[in-house]
Amino acid sequence: MNYKVPVIPGDGIGPEIIAEGQKVLQAAADKYNFSLDWIEYSLGAEHYLKTGELVSEETLKDLGRYPAIYLGAIGDPRVRPGVLEKGVLLAMRFYFDQYVNLRPVKLLEGIWTPLKDKTPKDIDFVVVRENTEDFYVGIGSRARRGKSHADFEIKRTLYNIKFGLDIDTDSEEIGYQIGEISREGTKRVIKYAFDLAAKRHNKVSSVDKANVLSDIYGFWREVFQDVAKGYPQVKTDFNFVDAITMWFVKNPEWFDVVVAPNMFGDIITDLGAMIQGGLGLAPGANLNPEGTSMFEPIHGSAPKYKGQNKVNPIATIWSGALLLEHLGQSKAAADIIAAIERNLFEGKIKTYDLGGSSTTSEVGSEIARLVGLV
Ligand code: IPM
Ligand code: MN
Repeated sequence: MNYKVPVIPGDGIGPEIIAEGQKVLQAAADKYNFSLDWIEYSLGAEHYLKTGELVSEETLKDLGRYPAIYLGAIGDPRVRPGVLEKGVLLAMRFYFDQYVNLRPVKLLEGIWTPLKDKTPKDIDFVVVRENTEDFYVGIGSRARRGKSHADFEIKRTLYNIKFGLDIDTDSEEIGYQIGEISREGTKRVIKYAFDLAAKRHNKVSSVDKANVLSDIYGFWREVFQDVAKGYPQVKTDFNFVDAITMWFVKNPEWFDVVVAPNMFGDIITDLGAMIQGGLGLAPGANLNPEGTSMFEPIHGSAPKYKGQNKVNPIATIWSGALLLEHLGQSKAAADIIAAIERNLFEGKIKTYDLGGSSTTSEVGSEIARLVGLV
């Protein structure tokens, strides 16, 4: 079996961590007799600064021919914050309609958690973050005193929406942002969460802020309850987003699958990363089960560490395991995770964030070696 996999190393530490991911996935491919052809795409700051282009329609179409993309990180201090993140990363998530952002929160053996008295059996859940809607739809602007008009459009695979806004204000200037969720978009991601829970421990926890943002998140809750009716064996609970940050810290063992709207999912998964030992360990997958998915660590491009061969590649390696799983190579994926666990458990070759002094590439080489032994 041969797989062609587009790879976007991206900015900052992206190229360093992706190189280690490729090294480990190659070791798994050798072990299970399949081959990987990497097709490299140079998207990100360099490409943008040189050409003024974020990502072209042609590149998107091209990437869309493959089931899985491997991504390092996007973001660079030379470019105004948000330009690359929105113009490249979010553009891809939306274009490919990757409506599930899957973020496992799992404490591995040998890793220190800041949560007192919690062990790997207490911290093992998955956050299913909605990935195409909510306050991420990019509807917003500023308006100065007086009357003005603004038109917005959301174009999605599922639907199109136009908003026309008449503004009349005596404030000196206002800034506003409109969040939007659809019944279809909410239903499909919540359904994904329930299907996942049915394969795990039959529990789904919903995250919202229905007590205040009731039009948008009261709707979320209503759709959740509709979907839940189809899964009588699955237990459910509702959590306001502020409260769930508290429970993640105090009782992480309560959770199995947590499903959240886009922005709350973004926030709570950084907390999730910390309780599983830090951003260097937290993997992610942007999934479109019927289309092109994209696998990336949840951390960013960490520009201050760029080129130092210093950061932890494990989040990216783990994301690579999720990629192989997605391609149907479950054994290879499981072996990569077992190799990561063994490396962490042995605790000898580790990067600075875990209290070690090994380099990015030493950790990658060691995990690749362990793939052959587990
Ligand atoms: C993430 C990041 C992105 C997000 C940014 C970089 C656009 O924080 O993947 O969690 O907000 O989704
Ligand atoms: Mn984030």
